[in-house]
Order: sequence, then structure tokens, then C-alpha cells
Amino acid sequence: MTALAGDLAQALDPVVFAKRLGFAAEPWQSRLLRSRARRQLVASSRQVGKTQTVSIRAVHTAVYDPGSLVLLISPSQRQSDEMLRRCRAVYRACGRPVPTVAESATALELENGSRLVSLPGTEGTSRGFAGAKLLVIDEAARVEDDIFAAVLPMVASDGVLACLSTPWGQRGFFHALWADGGSGWERHKVSVYESAQYTPERIAEVRASVGSFVFASDYECSFTDTDSQLFGTESVRAAFTADVKPLFGGM
Ligand SMILES: Nc1ncnc2c1ncn2[C@@H]1O[C@H](COP(=O)(O)OP(=O)(O)OP(=O)(O)O)[C@@H](O)[C@H]1O
Ligand SMILES: [Mg+2]
Repeated sequence: MTALAGDLAQALDPVVFAKRLGFAAEPWQSRLLRSRARRQLVASSRQVGKTQTVSIRAVHTAVYDPGSLVLLISPSQRQSDEMLRRCRAVYRACGRPVPTVAESATALELENGSRLVSLPGTEGTSRGFAGAKLLVIDEAARVEDDIFAAVLPMVASDGVLACLSTPWGQRGFFHALWADGGSGWERHKVSVYESAQYTPERIAEVRASVGSFVFASDYECSFTDTDSQLFGTESVRAAFTADVKPLFGGM
């Protein structure tokens, strides 16, 4: 392939773009990178690469779709900034094909008119953006319903809204969309068994250390909380905290 053909291939295909960065996308990551669905839900295990994959897609959009606004949202500004840092690393790794115009902890603006902006998942602060080509809500199960309602109108009519999360019980907009959102949402489910990041040994180690409730939710990707649950999700999680001393020593 000539250099020009290679450049064209990576402009057209985010999976080729990722590969040139040294990121060999797994099958589910390739599906997500290439998806043209305007509404996407990703329910996944911890640490399978959802933030990394969506960061690559975000930079691909900003670089190859001039004038595009990319909004990055997660439960806190700190986490959103962290995602923007990932994007910046991707942008550096691909050799900054479009120069930077302005840069801060919460924004990266390119010469082609594209902008990547990190926003907190808190009410009020996110107003004033419109026409986003890509809006990412990471850790969506922990983002409040009000925020989802507030940011939905910010997506352009031809824009993509991607909500990614590890499940967190049967509550909130992420679960509601997953369970009842209808066919307008493309769903990607990635349990620990579908991720190349987990060997059987690593799965066994995790299973032994977190307990069955957390394993089912955070690694097998089930929305395990129910209305009939006697103890709330947080109490059950707290019961698995490693630093709780056993009641009876030496047992
Ligand atoms: N295809 C891949 N090639 C190489 N490394 C990968 C790949 N997919 C994921 N990883 C690695 O897996 C790790 C976890 O990635 P990332 O933080 O994006 O996962 P996550 O699902 O967002 O995790 P968390 O649940 O903690 O938010 C990173 O070190 C990332 O580079
Ligand atoms: Mg993540």
C-alpha cells in the first residue's frame, strides 16, 4: 500500500487508524469503531478497553470530520478530563495530522475547526453546546438521569451518541435504555469472557477476589439489582470490601 492509500484507508476506517497507532482492535472493538449507528450502548466488564476504544473513535472523528464537535461526559469533570487526556495521547500517537489551535485541560481545538471538549456529569455546567457529531457518556450507569436529558439535545441530527458503562444495577437511564430503549439503540455487550484482555487465570483471580455479586455485575455484565432485593447494591458491595475486619479473628 502506498503512503497515500494508507492515509486514505485510515481516514475511512477507524480500525485501520487504530492499528497504525499500535492498537489491534478486538472484534467487539472493531464493531464499535466502525458502527454507523446513531445511538449506541456498550455494557461491558471492567477494564476491557471501552474508554480507550471510544477515545480512538473520538480523535478519528475530530481529525477526519472537519468542524466536528466531540463532547466527552462522565460522572465527574476529573474522569472526563482523563478521557480527554487519552484522546490527546491518541492524537499525539497519530502524529497530529491536523495542527492544534488551542489546548486546555478541558478542550482540544484543531485547525480544521474540530473540538474535543470534556464536560462534568453535573447539572447546569454543560449548557451551551449544540450540534455534536459525537457525544460520549462514559460510565453512563453512574451519570444522573437529569444529565442525560440535558445533553441529549446537544447531539446533531446526524451525530452519534454513545453511552458506555459497566452495569450498576437496575436503575437509571443506562439500564432503562438497555432494557427498554427499543431497536433504535445498537447494543454491544462485552463480558469478561468476550474480552481478549482476560485470560482464564486472570478471570479466576478476579472471581476469587471480588465475590459473586460484584463479579456478576462488574465482570459478567449483568444488571443484578432488583426491586425485590433485600439489601441495596451499595450495601452488598460494601460487604465485599477487603478492608473490613472479620468479626472473629483466626477463622
Ligand atoms: N485491543 C487492545 N490492545 C491492547 N490493549 C488493550 C486493548 N483493549 C484494551 N486494552 C487495554 O486494556 C486496558 C483497559 O482499557 P480501558 O481503560 O479503556 O478499559 P475500560 O473498559 O474503560 O476500563 P474501566 O472499566 O476501568 O473504565 C488498557 O490498558 C488498554 O490499553
Ligand atoms: Mg473506562
